Amino acid sequence: MRTNILLGFILLISFNSSFATGNSHLKYVWLDQLGQSAYYVQDWGTPQMNKSVLGTPLKVKGVVYKHGVGAHSISRILLDLNSKALSVSGLAGADDNNLFAGHLQFKILGDKKILWRSGIMKKGDAPKKFNVSLSGIREVLFLVEECGDGIMYDHADWLNVRFITKDKIVPIPAVPKTIQKEKYILTPAASENPCINNPLVYGARKGNPFLWGVMTTGIRPMTFSASGLPEGLSIDPNSGLITGVALKDGNYKVVLTATNKKGIDKKAITIKIGKDIALTPPMGWNSWNCWALAVDDSKVRDAARVMHQKLYNYGWNYVNIDDGWEAANRTKNGEILANEKFPDFRGLTDYIHSLGLKFGIYSSPGPTTCGGYIGSYQHEDIDAKTWASQGVDYLKYDYCGYSSVQRNSEEKTIQEPYITMRKALDKVNRDIVYCIGYGAPNVWKWGEEAGGNQWRTTRDITDEWNVVTAIGCFQDVCAKSSAPGKYNDPDMLVVGTLGKPWGNIHDSYLTADEQYSHISLWSILSAPLLIGCDMANMDDFTLNLLTNNEVIAVDQDSIVSPAKKILTRDGQIWYKKLYDGSYAVGLFQIDPYYILWNQKEGEKVQRCLYDLKIDFSALGIKGKAKVRDLWRQQDIGIFDGCYKTKVPYHGVRFIKVTQEK
Ligand code: GAL
Repeated sequence: MRTNILLGFILLISFNSSFATGNSHLKYVWLDQLGQSAYYVQDWGTPQMNKSVLGTPLKVKGVVYKHGVGAHSISRILLDLNSKALSVSGLAGADDNNLFAGHLQFKILGDKKILWRSGIMKKGDAPKKFNVSLSGIREVLFLVEECGDGIMYDHADWLNVRFITKDKIVPIPAVPKTIQKEKYILTPAASENPCINNPLVYGARKGNPFLWGVMTTGIRPMTFSASGLPEGLSIDPNSGLITGVALKDGNYKVVLTATNKKGIDKKAITIKIGKDIALTPPMGWNSWNCWALAVDDSKVRDAARVMHQKLYNYGWNYVNIDDGWEAANRTKNGEILANEKFPDFRGLTDYIHSLGLKFGIYSSPGPTTCGGYIGSYQHEDIDAKTWASQGVDYLKYDYCGYSSVQRNSEEKTIQEPYITMRKALDKVNRDIVYCIGYGAPNVWKWGEEAGGNQWRTTRDITDEWNVVTAIGCFQDVCAKSSAPGKYNDPDMLVVGTLGKPWGNIHDSYLTADEQYSHISLWSILSAPLLIGCDMANMDDFTLNLLTNNEVIAVDQDSIVSPAKKILTRDGQIWYKKLYDGSYAVGLFQIDPYYILWNQKEGEKVQRCLYDLKIDFSALGIKGKAKVRDLWRQQDIGIFDGCYKTKVPYHGVRFIKVTQEK
């Protein structure tokens, strides 16, 4: 016993110690000694050696550990043992250094079989010990999983993890190298005839400037009219823009008409003048995912110009500047100013509005923003006033800097500064969509009470499939909180030319199939759709992806019914009810935990097609139903009881299912 303790001590202080047992040469190898491997995959941050994922000391339930790997959920560490390892031992627990206590689970798998699982854990739990035999195992995987509570801030520590082995241990890639397939176009070209794409409902407040238009594809010239408009509003017959100031509350049945030499289209919609705005999810562009803090006047003008020329007619209309626009100092009167990258802010907003588009801005309840610029702390009223006078239509209000004022992460405390800004916005005569831009756990439980029109349910998205699915696939947890004018926001779209890691302008790393899945899922989720790409360099594929009016109509559906999820062997089925009683259904080949156990297998799975099936009874549909392919805009046929299909790796079949009478 004494010898063992002594041996243990010597081994603890000297990594990779060797010792002889019988005739084989055994050694201890620490997990953290294998180095920061680019092969480890994690959906937030990168695994840290001997530190938590935040770079702080590894600390679980008050105890600091010298050895270990600071990971996060979801993360995957795959190692080749060459079948020469005997065992691995250590501890696993949620790091103390975390504002939130999400649920997570640690697992160790050997050659695809589960060897150990921690059970569901959270911050404050004592770490769980393991000592697992690896005899005969070729590859071992350390996995941390989310546990479906929707909290994505799980700092997961593997502690004192030590192998006994006869050979070296080598990290191997834990996700397959992507086979690049060609981008393929599914959305048919719009007809030359007029086709009005406005959502069926639009909300605005009386007494405030009104700006909306008839969003119509079809060849020009085109003329527009609208009957039944609220008193105070009028339509420009050439541009289709509806402007003015509505004088009285009410639900107005309006018929929009668009005419060109090929024909005429009419659409009956409702304009609701009352307290609620953004009655369908905002659609537009935000500067962050491509330009980050390098955003400037010309990039925003480019975005506005391209949106007007190519996207507006499908419903896209917000042009939003994210962080990086603010000057270092306020005026003597305390007004917030734009910095030198925006020499003519008023000119810019006028330009955006002249195109029929809306203008969005970014700030923080803290003294500074996430990017270190001036925030609105203690200037809420004056900022709301300034923005209203500048014609701001949308505010993304991002928590970050407020943590310097308030370290407490209680829901009530986080909510307070949002309520302050809500009150400030209520004092100005402008319809400003209010985005609670902070993925705080459970924000969906208080975002509405804080007066938000949308709230970020997640940390930042990136154009990596594991991140998109880690974010997208838990949105059923919060889905019930969405309603007209109140949306869960799973973050912006990662299609087109993007810029993260910053400065590295590149085409989205998502494959074409993944991009179709991304847009389909976000539409089923009734997510605000904010494109994050370089608009001046949008390729045909991206444009095609963003201009499918049947797909957009799912996102913009007026009843904003909550999305639901069904798990199946080969994927996930997501669906939501639409205003006409039909269902939008996405059959997705998604496995958020997918691990590559070897490259050959990885290539094989990427080439496969996967069987997915929706039973109509899950939708409450009895007997026969009509199925329409939304991306191809084609009826597939009438099916009895269920619809089965084959879906490519990480791809989707996005359909509309309508009960046959
Ligand atoms: C982050 C936010 C990003 C972006 C950034 C700006 O907190 O999640 O979307 O707005 O701040 O600094």
